[in-house]
Amino acid sequence: MRTLNIAQIGHGFMGKAHSNAYRQVNRFFDLPVQVHLHTLCGRSEGVEESARQLGWTHAERDWRKVIENPEIDVIDVSTPGHLHAPMAIAAAEAGKAVWCEKPLGNTLAEAESMVEAVTRTGAAHGLFHNYRAVPAIQLLRRMIDDGRIGQIYHFRAVYLQDWILSPSFPRVWRLQKSQTGTGAHGDLNAHLIDLAHFLVGGLTEVSGLMRTFITERPLPDDPSKTGEVDVDDAALALLRFESGAIGSIEASRFAAGRKNYNCIEVNGSKGSAVFNLERMNELQFFDRTAADDAQGFTVINVTDQPHPYGGTYWPSGHIIGYEHTFINLVAGFIQAMERGEPLNPNFNDGLRTQRVLEAVERSHESRAWVATV
Ligand SMILES: NC(=O)c1ccc[n+]([C@@H]2O[C@H](COP(=O)([O-])OP(=O)(O)OC[C@H]3O[C@@H](n4cnc5c(N)ncnc54)[C@H](O)[C@@H]3O)[C@@H](O)[C@H]2O)c1
Repeated sequence: MRTLNIAQIGHGFMGKAHSNAYRQVNRFFDLPVQVHLHTLCGRSEGVEESARQLGWTHAERDWRKVIENPEIDVIDVSTPGHLHAPMAIAAAEAGKAVWCEKPLGNTLAEAESMVEAVTRTGAAHGLFHNYRAVPAIQLLRRMIDDGRIGQIYHFRAVYLQDWILSPSFPRVWRLQKSQTGTGAHGDLNAHLIDLAHFLVGGLTEVSGLMRTFITERPLPDDPSKTGEVDVDDAALALLRFESGAIGSIEASRFAAGRKNYNCIEVNGSKGSAVFNLERMNELQFFDRTAADDAQGFTVINVTDQPHPYGGTYWPSGHIIGYEHTFINLVAGFIQAMERGEPLNPNFNDGLRTQRVLEAVERSHESRAWVATV
């Protein structure tokens, strides 16, 4: 079997999640290629130890050398946002496939330059919006396609966390505009906007509100000094969809008690559906067409044979977790590349999301509705 040599740049949180997916994907999916964890790249000395622990053959500290290596087929960009564009563009120009973490870039201009590069070079491109690869989200998409939700009126989504509530939490890269672009907005709302697009369709207009609650935090290397936080801690928006549906998104890192509360609700003419990532094997469904005396929300355990990804992992009822979303996504990327088809999702989806992210920022600044197209 042919080998697909992967190099991953970044060995933090996503470094671990993607490495696991690359190690597992051939064990659960019948693929025409064998994934090889060729090179792990990071800028710190810890990368050699990470490579050993995560199962990579080589470790490297200079990302440009990794991209130049003729043995590598796929470059995985899992670094902070300001590095996505230079790394992805260089990888595409070196003739590699590029799989990039979200949000695609830190700005709309960066996202546009990334799409331009993959279009010009013909590079295969994928984007790690892993929540599309949750079985319950795929089931909801199927129910919408089959008309079981009916005409969609509402899309309501929140993505709530609480990890920076303490004022003593340091000013890490995720709180610096120069590295991350925006805060909770680009990090969390990017996922919600992608799901809004995936489930309901295109947006036309947004009205945004953003807020930074704590504007100075201790520096990670010297807690006796503080530095400015110049990104949002929370960001909300009202949405208008092309279809006539309306919606809302809310992202916060200040929602005490909420850890990774990625929760969406869709209300349509025939029923409603609710998904909560913290109970990711379940989809709640309310069917208005059921007998009057039997109406109520049903909790579907989305682990059975007829469900998306059913039978891929364990027998029904034997639940899967966060890490499986990345395995599912990577399997889909490989299958699409082998068929010569666009990867799903890809940089075009990322650009579409970036337009909405930026429209929300502009709406917040201008205190007016802003078009997303
Ligand atoms: N899909 C998701 O659900 C999800 C979840 C978390 C993070 N992310 C995204 O993943 C990306 C990385 O986030 P993270 O949480 O893994 O960050 P992290 O801080 O845990 O890791 C970042 C990594 O980038 C590496 N890095 C930084 N500069 C580098 C350079 N110049 N050369 C080589 N390596 C360099 C660091 O060494 C580190 O290993 C971000 O874009 C983030 O938005 C996505």
